[in-house]
Amino acid sequence: MNADDIGDDLLDVLISAERLQARISELAARVDADYAGRELLLVGVLKGAVMVMADLARAMHLPVRMDWMAISSYGSGTKSSGVVRILKDLDTDISGKHVLVVEDIVDSGLTLSYLVNNLQSRDPASVAVCVLLRKRAAAQMPVDVAYTGFEIADEFVIGYGLDYAERYRNLPFIGTLAPHAYT
Ligand code: PRP
Repeated sequence: MNADDIGDDLLDVLISAERLQARISELAARVDADYAGRELLLVGVLKGAVMVMADLARAMHLPVRMDWMAISSYGSGTKSSGVVRILKDLDTDISGKHVLVVEDIVDSGLTLSYLVNNLQSRDPASVAVCVLLRKRAAAQMPVDVAYTGFEIADEFVIGYGLDYAERYRNLPFIGTLAPHAYT
């Protein structure tokens, strides 16, 4: 899927596929260096993090393990409500393990703060967070993010895993959605 396939629902290309891949390679190199000599479990948060997880893991040299969680933050349309529920838990026991949570976006911070607290209660060796996108607007919940791809304004973004009503996840870039598409 590409810009031509969307038509006027796409307002703008915010971060091109090339910039995404370049930045993810930088993050992968940092994660490789920081976890050298240690076993690392990447935890991807479905569904938005599928693309960044796949590209980050493939850009790394360490032989990481990968696991997935699915979380529902109840909310309709464009905002999460803060009520979080685990739909699919890890297959892995993370006790004593180094864990890096990989997310597509931190907006209010509610999802990640819940998730990090939840994982920390399982007695891991460490829990850190890698997010591709972080909205600049003040988060409702503080989240300690070790690896951030891009800081962005408070716009509705789609593509590269991020959806609007389950569509546009398979765009290779991050775009902004035209207001007429969701109002
Ligand atoms: C999105 C995103 C984060 C969360 C961020 O997930 O993937 O998990 O919202 O928002 P917050 O910081 O305000 O909590 P979403 O619930 O849209 O699910 P999805 O990943 O399946 O698209």
